[in-house]
Amino acid sequence: MRKINLEISVEIFDWDELSDTDKMIMHSAQEALQSAYAPYSNFHVGAAVLLEDGTIIKGSNQENAAYPSGLCAERTAIFATGANYPGQIITAIAVTAKPASSPTFVSVSPCGACRQALLEYEYKQQKSIRMLLQGADNTVCVLQSIDSLLPIKFTQDNLG
Ligand code: THU
Repeated sequence: MRKINLEISVEIFDWDELSDTDKMIMHSAQEALQSAYAPYSNFHVGAAVLLEDGTIIKGSNQENAAYPSGLCAERTAIFATGANYPGQIITAIAVTAKPASSPTFVSVSPCGACRQALLEYEYKQQKSIRMLLQGADNTVCVLQSIDSLLPIKFTQDNLG
């Protein structure tokens, strides 16, 4: 038997400690949240993708009466990016959330399906995508790659 311990680094910033660029993409994610269509969960999520040339692509969660037909904010944003900006390098994605009943943003962490979808684009471009996640009390958690969120993963390499 062999045992491997995996380690993940998460940097936790107070809002004021963020760079101007990181503040800007978090703000874009907060704006994106306003277009969330979440009448079933009342949980509003916004995502903003930053491209290398500075372009921002926004996404928000889009729910459906047939629940599984809805889509998370992260995949809405990354698929819109893939469809409209093919071949452009993705630098970062920011995600934020707010329940309809809450006056403030709350911490959020992408679901497994979104991690898998985001990882595909990181592999495709062979360059890490930073992830900024809204944390509690106006903090922001930063991960340096999607890979770090999905250390044991299924990729095209598994297809042989
Ligand atoms: N949701 C997202 O959009 N992103 C996340 O990271 C977590 C969950 C959405 C899916 C659904 O519309 C609602 O939040 C409640 O799960």
